[in-house]
Amino acid sequence: MRQNVSLKPYNTFGLTAFAERFAEGDSIEGLLDLLEKEQPALILGGGSNVLLTQNIHGLVIKNNFKEKTIVAETEDTVQVRFGAGENWHECVLWCLEQGYGGIENLSLIPGTIGAAPMQNIGAYGVELQQVFVELEAVHLQEKEVRTFDNKECMFGYRDSVFKGEFKGQYFIVSVTLQLTKHSHKLDISYGAIQQTLEQAGVQTPDIKAISNAVIRIRSGKLPDPAKIGNAGSFFKNPVMAKSQFEVIQMKHPDIICYDLPEEHVKVPAGWLIEQCGWKGKRIGNTGTHINQALVLVNHGNATGQEILQTAYQIQDAVHDKFKILLTPEVNVV
Ligand code: FAD
Ligand code: EPU
Repeated sequence: MRQNVSLKPYNTFGLTAFAERFAEGDSIEGLLDLLEKEQPALILGGGSNVLLTQNIHGLVIKNNFKEKTIVAETEDTVQVRFGAGENWHECVLWCLEQGYGGIENLSLIPGTIGAAPMQNIGAYGVELQQVFVELEAVHLQEKEVRTFDNKECMFGYRDSVFKGEFKGQYFIVSVTLQLTKHSHKLDISYGAIQQTLEQAGVQTPDIKAISNAVIRIRSGKLPDPAKIGNAGSFFKNPVMAKSQFEVIQMKHPDIICYDLPEEHVKVPAGWLIEQCGWKGKRIGNTGTHINQALVLVNHGNATGQEILQTAYQIQDAVHDKFKILLTPEVNVV
């Protein structure tokens, strides 16, 4: 265990905050030992979806569980259990090397395997829940290992039971995914993927071609945290009833949306923010990304509090103009 550790290298916003105590958890026994002494104030994976607004008074446990085990296999599918501390994108690349399909659309998402179920990561038409079998998690107070299947995780858009009812109660230690060995279900429904494949001259895409296309699209519009601090989309795309959307549309005829089941729509928050004049805007050391207004950035020496204040200003601007309240996707600590 280390004392007074800077978390700057452990969060992709690149924010300076200190952990009173800092330890790494890489086995259930080691984790249980830590929990005997103290409950964690914060569990950290890759720190790519947190906004640290203060020092952490207490223990930060960095998840470092490593494992890749094939736990079940048929002629068509394979189930792989990944240690929660494995890097998500490295696991995607590993799957591609093995010829396993299912997560190619989720290429280049930063962070760990263990955080992926927290918000049911998604991109380019695919969400984690489509390949998720189960996870193992340690209850922080009871100190018991429990398995959650797909249904028990209560996945939704950027949501799970771990952000709701069980918030702050479990440490996820492994995640099992079911992947296809052949006859992969390719999803190229997201417009930009088709265009990018066409530009690359790919006639019959395979899982590697889709991964490459996704990597190319993402690299073009999302800032690389190694170069400019950010945590991806800061807010969720608001979901509302179609009837509510139609009322807003009367005043703002250009507004765009994506249809969802049961007469609901999703409105791209990036578009709303851009319409409020916030795309690429800078306030001191904070602002939004020049190519993606939904991504808040740290231009250098911003504090978490400064980024939070900017987020509030954006929320107010969008609410004033559209009467829509944006809710953060990033976990504010
Ligand atoms: P962290 O930021 O470390 O933690 C996130 C939350 O989960 C915190 O509340 C933390 O306490 C909790 N947590 C972490 N690990 C555990 C664990 N083992 N057990 C219990 N609780 C835990 N997300 C998407 O869904 N789609 C995208 O396309 C996407 N693109 C992104 C692009 C960029 C450039 C960046 C910076 C982020 C992007 N994100 C995206 C957000 C982020 O990558 C994901 O949310 C990712 O799953 C976070 O993983 P992490 O390990 O960094 O989590
Ligand atoms: N748009 C604008 N201005 C902007 C940004 C976007 O007008 O500044 C418009 C785009 O033109 C497009 C629409 O908004 O019509 C959607 O934009 P984009 O395809 O870039 O996706 P997004 O809705 O902004 C979501 C996810 C991303 C994910 C991409 C791809 C959320 C909150 N974000 O972004 O996830 O990678 O789709 O599937 O759902 C993340 O969660 O951190 C993240 C990056």
